[in-house]
Amino acid sequence: MLARHHRDGESFVELMKETYDNRFDDTFWTAWQQWIEPVFAEQTTVLDLGCGPGLFIKELAGRYPGVHAMGVECAPYMLEAVGELPTGCEIIEEDLQNPRLPLDDNSVDAALAAVLLHEMHQPVKLLLELQRCLKPGGRIYIIDWVRGPLETYIHHESKTLKVFDPATSINELEDLFIHFIEHNRFSVDDLSYLLSCTGFNVLDSRTVRDDRYAHIVAEKA
Ligand SMILES: C[S@@+](CC[C@H](N)C(=O)[O-])C[C@H]1O[C@@H](n2cnc3c(N)ncnc32)[C@H](O)[C@@H]1O
Repeated sequence: MLARHHRDGESFVELMKETYDNRFDDTFWTAWQQWIEPVFAEQTTVLDLGCGPGLFIKELAGRYPGVHAMGVECAPYMLEAVGELPTGCEIIEEDLQNPRLPLDDNSVDAALAAVLLHEMHQPVKLLLELQRCLKPGGRIYIIDWVRGPLETYIHHESKTLKVFDPATSINELEDLFIHFIEHNRFSVDDLSYLLSCTGFNVLDSRTVRDDRYAHIVAEKA
């Protein structure tokens, strides 16, 4: 599922690098400072779940010297693209479908799951594992696609594809419509429901970019 969803692995790595600044813009960092920084401890550990090529953990290390930033990833092309890591960063190679992370109970201050949950067969085992690893009061910041109208999706995702032109190939159309389903996995309420059923209290929830993405902050109860 992952390999198909990413289409071509190397190109997907490049896409994640090119679009990094859009995801982690000033609005994101303001919210991160508001909701996540307050739970930082003297020796802070932050998990980046589905860290891709590792840009976020590298930025964390630059912004917060002394932080222990751990990326978790399973796709070989992403792991290969991580390259050299600054002090304080490390990568855990793990499939998050049913993870057992090499971390003590109640040892993690905060976690990020950026555009990860919609790519998983089920996110329940991951949220339960996070519940184990986070300190009481530890927080997760989730960014993900959320359900929206087909019209908005086509407007944003098919700039060059003439969707309703009879000459457009069936392969291009299938690719677009399959991605539409995959990017429409969960509603904002679905994500809140999953979090509350796995022991989290949602602290903040908002949508951005034409309501196509949610930013949700939740705390281990
Ligand atoms: C859309 S990319 C986002 C990458 C990064 N979080 C970012 O925002 O730049 C989603 C990442 O989650 C990873 N991923 C998806 N399912 C995973 C799983 N079961 N275990 C570990 N990583 C997973 C993918 O390989 C990919 O690198």
